[in-house]
Amino acid sequence: MSDQLSALESEVAAKAAAVQTEADLESLRNEFLARKGGRLSQVMASLGRLPKEERAEFGRRANESKERIEAAFGQAQQRILNAGLQAELAQRYDVTFPGIPARLGRQHVLRRTLNDVVEFFHRRGFAVVMGPEVETEFFNFEAMNIPADHPARDAMDTFYLAGGTLLRTHTSPMQMRTLLAYPPPVAVLVPGRTFRRDALDARHAFNFHQFEGLQVDRGITFGHLKGFVTDLCRHLYGAQRRTRFRPSYFQFTEPSAEVDVSCAVCDGSGCRTCGGAGWLEMGGSGMVHPNVLRTAGHDPEMYSGWAFGLGIERIAMVRHGIDDIRAFTESDPGFLEQFA
Ligand code: PHE
Repeated sequence: MSDQLSALESEVAAKAAAVQTEADLESLRNEFLARKGGRLSQVMASLGRLPKEERAEFGRRANESKERIEAAFGQAQQRILNAGLQAELAQRYDVTFPGIPARLGRQHVLRRTLNDVVEFFHRRGFAVVMGPEVETEFFNFEAMNIPADHPARDAMDTFYLAGGTLLRTHTSPMQMRTLLAYPPPVAVLVPGRTFRRDALDARHAFNFHQFEGLQVDRGITFGHLKGFVTDLCRHLYGAQRRTRFRPSYFQFTEPSAEVDVSCAVCDGSGCRTCGGAGWLEMGGSGMVHPNVLRTAGHDPEMYSGWAFGLGIERIAMVRHGIDDIRAFTESDPGFLEQFA
């Protein structure tokens, strides 16, 4: 009888492997597994004729057979289903057709530039502080040693808002806010958005970004400023670039200097890229004016410091050879996707 079961199993295995449709599979199932008249049931029917002591063993064997037969049908069903699915897919979709690549977003080139700057300052122990974009006239001008009637205000015309506030023209007001909040020694980086009432062209925007560096302590000299800024420019533009400090004037620094970096193409001798100048202007710098220290309540005889303010757009333009500041805000993927 055990032989009968084995024979049944191999017959099922062969037929299940060959069956092609669900209907044929269903009739196979009936043929072998139907409770009444199924071929397995038929073999089982002989159970009653067995001697008592053999019945349990035969029952176990018969169950095993049933499981194997069901498994064979199960596999066949899976195979038929898969084949059907494949056929349907092949009909509806050409799976070999190249897909449309997903467009991934990325960090804006200005953010990348700023992150680079932040990292430089961080490694040197500077704190990063941020100030309000809507400033008071006091912090933007008076506190920076620019009284109401000073002509310097013309060069920094801005958008005036209600209640004596304005859109800040530089990140320098944070010099005063920092010095009021923290007693020296202080060393901060102030990144942020700034505004001027400038007409839009390839080099001017009414909204741009700056970052301010400020260090105040005992015994800080112009040498510290030069060293720090030169190091920063090397970090930003590469070790070959030279940095130049050109005497200048700011109301809140004394002495003051414009920071220039040598042109990457001609290294200072003058070429078409730099318009013959040999140098590219990066921003302003100087030693914190005694009046600024005094306004903040610190003794200029005891403390001194340096400050500088550089433009983030400017740095990105010089680094990547971008010739129009408007490109940063036009959101043209063709432009933005160049900066990986
Ligand atoms: N705030 C100045 C500007 O925007 C730059 C500057 C900052 C100059 C710090 C000196 C010291 O033009």
